[in-house]
Amino acid sequence: MYPHVVRRGTGQWGRRELLKAAWVGPAAAAAAVRSKAGGQAPDSPASLEEAAAEAYRAGFSAPPLERVRIGFVGVGLQGGIHVRNFLGLEGVDVVAVCDIDEPRAEEVASWVVEAGGAPPLLYTRGETDFKRLCERDDVDLVFNATPWRWHVPVCVEAMETGKHTAVEVPAATTLEGCWRLVETAERTARHCVMMENCNYGRSEMMVLNMVRQGLLGDLLHGEAAYIHDLRSIKFSDANEGLWRRRHSVERNANLYPTHGLGPVAQCMDINRGDCFDYLVSLSSPARGLAKYAAKRFGADDPRARVRYALGDMNSSLVRTRRGRSILLQHDTTTPRPYSRLNLVQGTRGVFAGFPDRIFIEGEAEGEDWSDVEPYRERFEHPLWSEQADNAEGAGHGGMDYLEDYRLVRCLLEGTPTDMDVYDAAALSAPVELSELSVARGSEPVEFPDFTRGAYRTRPPLGIVA
Ligand SMILES: NC(=O)c1ccc[n+]([C@@H]2O[C@H](COP(=O)([O-])OP(=O)(O)OC[C@H]3O[C@@H](n4cnc5c(N)ncnc54)[C@H](O)[C@@H]3O)[C@@H](O)[C@H]2O)c1
Repeated sequence: MYPHVVRRGTGQWGRRELLKAAWVGPAAAAAAVRSKAGGQAPDSPASLEEAAAEAYRAGFSAPPLERVRIGFVGVGLQGGIHVRNFLGLEGVDVVAVCDIDEPRAEEVASWVVEAGGAPPLLYTRGETDFKRLCERDDVDLVFNATPWRWHVPVCVEAMETGKHTAVEVPAATTLEGCWRLVETAERTARHCVMMENCNYGRSEMMVLNMVRQGLLGDLLHGEAAYIHDLRSIKFSDANEGLWRRRHSVERNANLYPTHGLGPVAQCMDINRGDCFDYLVSLSSPARGLAKYAAKRFGADDPRARVRYALGDMNSSLVRTRRGRSILLQHDTTTPRPYSRLNLVQGTRGVFAGFPDRIFIEGEAEGEDWSDVEPYRERFEHPLWSEQADNAEGAGHGGMDYLEDYRLVRCLLEGTPTDMDVYDAAALSAPVELSELSVARGSEPVEFPDFTRGAYRTRPPLGIVA
């Protein structure tokens, strides 16, 4: 049986699933070959490769860097935010900029020079010019903020050429892509970090601190979402408008699971004590984009007549191996205020976001939510206490600065990164898993365990400062 995706229902495998089932990845394939051949000598190349992968899974750190020399691939809106952050950090050089939009690459390169850096080399010869950037031997980190379809190819190229890589969210939009990232990181012994900025949100980090100090008791349940009215962005003539709408035409799934799920997963020690087990998913009808396009462009406009696959509200329920439940939602196409839900429920109480509220048994009266403000002083995360002034004014309320700051610290100090390739894969996997479940009438679909069992002994993320 395909080791990574197991359907729990009774129906037959479709052609697509069978094709996917053939992809087991080099390490798994090597293991299968070994077991057929009756095992390999302990010092055979295959055994050494597997031992190295096992060591990587236990917690990978690379030798400390004297400076972090960064090559950027994709410097649109979000890439630009990161470049600004890195230009303000000690120990960082932006040495190369790659974008298919040459004027934008030149503009971003001019920021580097204004900040006192040497002019970065530009790579603007088309969609695969990132390969020339990766060939350089003076780049330590390839930072990837391209559209989704380029996430895996750029990261894999970077790791294959000996660089660490950091990628915007989601790291991959297929299970095959998730496995390629994991297996390339293990084989090349490089970092592959998904830049989930919401894990560094002030409230999210405070909740992590509350959880670590036992305020909420034993965790039972979480609620996570990406509810963000992106209708005008999806029809814009620039930036995400050029590529994001296509995914809504092609896929009925949770296309963007990581912002809500990342912080809840961190509280629940996913990949570090617990592991996502399976999910069920269903989608509402898809009306939002066609209605919006008809109103804005006219009912006969092709953008109003196209058949959108993406149900406006996708809801999944995730179960973890320790039996916890998570509601995970995605809605980018209806008129609705922004929310990531950010709810964490334990045996002693509950925290909920958007707006922030809390209820702790013994500290709250009756059935009403308590004001969270008095808790902020008690449970502010030390990273925020330390860095709030520096983060002020940076992208997405400062959390983008903190994630960039932490990435650089880890590379300079040679410690494991806060988020690693297993988090990138597990948090991105719901894209295809929800698509499979929706297509099969909400049948449960198993998560791969990207850590191959190592989640049982990997230590939880501490309160880093
Ligand atoms: N973490 C967050 O809060 C957040 C917010 C916005 C976007 N994002 C993510 O950031 C990524 C980029 O989004 P964006 O809003 O910056 O989009 P964008 O369209 O503004 O930027 C993408 C850039 O990549 C360039 N590009 C496209 N193909 C390329 C290729 N093959 N090689 C080099 N450059 C290429 C484009 O010219 C553009 O400049 C996406 O993955 C998105 O999901 C994350």
